[in-house]
Amino acid sequence: MKEILDLYDPSAPLEEASTIPAPWYVDLRVMDRELETVFSRTWQLVGRADQVREPGRYVTWEISNEPIVVVRGSDNVLRGFFNVCRHHAAAVMEEPEGEAKSLRCPYHGWTYALDGQLKGTPDFAGVCNFDRAEHGLVPVQVAEWENWVFVKLDDGGPSLEEFLGDDLIGQIRPLGLAGLHWFERRYYTFDCNWKVFVDNYLDGGYHIPYLHKGLDSVLDYPKYTIENGERFCLQSSPMVQEGAEAQTGAVRTGERALYYWIYPNFMINWYEGVMDTNLVIPRGVDKTEVIFDFYFPDVSESAAERNRASIDVGQRIQDEDTAICKSVQRGLTSRAYVRGRLSVRREAGEHLFHRLLALDLKES
Ligand code: FES
Ligand SMILES: [Fe+2]
Repeated sequence: MKEILDLYDPSAPLEEASTIPAPWYVDLRVMDRELETVFSRTWQLVGRADQVREPGRYVTWEISNEPIVVVRGSDNVLRGFFNVCRHHAAAVMEEPEGEAKSLRCPYHGWTYALDGQLKGTPDFAGVCNFDRAEHGLVPVQVAEWENWVFVKLDDGGPSLEEFLGDDLIGQIRPLGLAGLHWFERRYYTFDCNWKVFVDNYLDGGYHIPYLHKGLDSVLDYPKYTIENGERFCLQSSPMVQEGAEAQTGAVRTGERALYYWIYPNFMINWYEGVMDTNLVIPRGVDKTEVIFDFYFPDVSESAAERNRASIDVGQRIQDEDTAICKSVQRGLTSRAYVRGRLSVRREAGEHLFHRLLALDLKES
């Protein structure tokens, strides 16, 4: 393992840097280490703020194989817990989201208050040295930012605000995301390691002229910019109307496209009046699920058709990426490949991603 991790030199400047080495994309031990470090130390998306706005509203999710429930208490405080019953470990809440007066385990009926305290234990009289107060749900850190709710598995570490940083928070605020409403969720499966998908996203538009002709027709490719923050990368491009391919041009308008990646696996794609987010989840060393959530200013029935047309354009772009990600994953297992170099003009985002990964993987 150490040998594999040492194959990467995070101190090399972009001009001299190589990608992380192929074994990082194919070795199961690396993936296990990522779940323990990268995905446990970072703030991970678990749901949307609108899902848990009122007391009693909850969402369940899973991070690094840990079941999580986030619920708003009667006191309006948002709390996160491991969704694991203190009796015999069943998931207490089973629905992806809902509303509840208390949290009742479906197995033997133990009941927890919305603040996690154990309240009801049927047929438990006569059990010695059992203190209910010590058997509440185990809490986990939770915080909200803009339209989303995040959880961090590991204790300590930066708060969500510190993790995102003032720079990113300040850049997102003026976009007025509160005016965009969730419309639809779609799931995509890629036959590649999760980092192949992230690399593809972070290549500074390098692949767009070759792989995404429709998208290419609305972006001013030479003016594409890449700016790294501490734990995020903003890729941005001015939009052009002239010569736009019809289907894409109809739904991708406005001045600029903003593509934010937040380490390690969350992306916010913003065009004027349209936003989608991507959540990248490792499902195996060469299987990745990417969850897309689409947001629009108007999500009423009358806007549904236009909204769907916009989503379909995104779908086409994903389909174009699916085949290339699979192709890359296969190549990464070839004896002919260990690592590649990075374009200074285009691939600074990937460089940041790889350095942050190396930091988390080696520090454990
Ligand atoms: S496992 Fe939850 S009540 Fe038994
Ligand atoms: Fe792409």
